[in-house]
Amino acid sequence: MIKIAPPELVLAQAWSAMDLKNRPDWKFTWPEDWYTEARSLTKWASKRKNPIEDIEANSVSTPSLDKLSHHVKRELREGSGVAWIQGITGIDRERLNLLFLNFSLALGNTIDTYGRLYGVQSTGKDYRNEPIPVSQTNAATGAHTDSSKKSIQPGIVGLCCISPAALGGKSRVVSAARVHENIRARAPDKLKLLYKSYIRDLVTPDSKKSIQQLLSNQFPIFKYVDSKLSIRYMRYWIEKGHQRAGKLLTNDIQQAFDLLDYELNSQNNMISFSMKPGDILFLDNTRVLHDREEFTDTLGQRRLYTRVWIA
Ligand SMILES: [Fe+2]
Repeated sequence: MIKIAPPELVLAQAWSAMDLKNRPDWKFTWPEDWYTEARSLTKWASKRKNPIEDIEANSVSTPSLDKLSHHVKRELREGSGVAWIQGITGIDRERLNLLFLNFSLALGNTIDTYGRLYGVQSTGKDYRNEPIPVSQTNAATGAHTDSSKKSIQPGIVGLCCISPAALGGKSRVVSAARVHENIRARAPDKLKLLYKSYIRDLVTPDSKKSIQQLLSNQFPIFKYVDSKLSIRYMRYWIEKGHQRAGKLLTNDIQQAFDLLDYELNSQNNMISFSMKPGDILFLDNTRVLHDREEFTDTLGQRRLYTRVWIA
């Protein structure tokens, strides 16, 4: 039997675009002496062949960054589920990535499906023509959570801006709890459909793509387990998965997805903002969905973000 999350629990963690705009708690700045600790990291890395693979949470002592990571962790776990850290300037990509990874390790272990750090940039390909992650295109993704593979659910997604797009490419985030409550108020019958299991197409590297594997790669959109509401959603891969399995989605279900998309993309719910080089965004991937605007690269300026998945 499907267990729907109770309203009082969900409302306690819901936020609107305006709420987040008015709330300062999710915005952080690097401690003033971050540069000294970044220098220690660089020194440590200079003695390693592959520092990105070798570094562990305690490889280098970074007390100021550790202090910041406690606040970030709390905001991710108990607050909005979003943390935007600003204020790093004037370091190159290699050192920025190392700093980003070192900070991420203070939040948890990395999931290395796409490598420890993964470059999010347009390859000029289209995810609608071949089964590649949308992260490798310049398209708007639609609000989603990362990973369509049942066995891999990053708890936290981190994104570090190396270089913003020449045009577009703003970041967007939306609270799953807020959307959940709006759907409950509008159409509780549709909310129930979003607690059912749906097949997701297999696009994650090393996924076996037999029909059996595809059929077993199904799980609910909303889930309420152990007093926690969580969400896993990217409509495109659900529709693709069902199409490939020959299991068509009914009109009722399509309408429930339409309503979910409507709420996710509503300006009342979704907040958008521009990240600068050196800015880092962490998200609770189980209760905050993210998106980015479509963007245009030029020869002189290509959008490049580094992504990390944390268990
Ligand atoms: Fe994503």
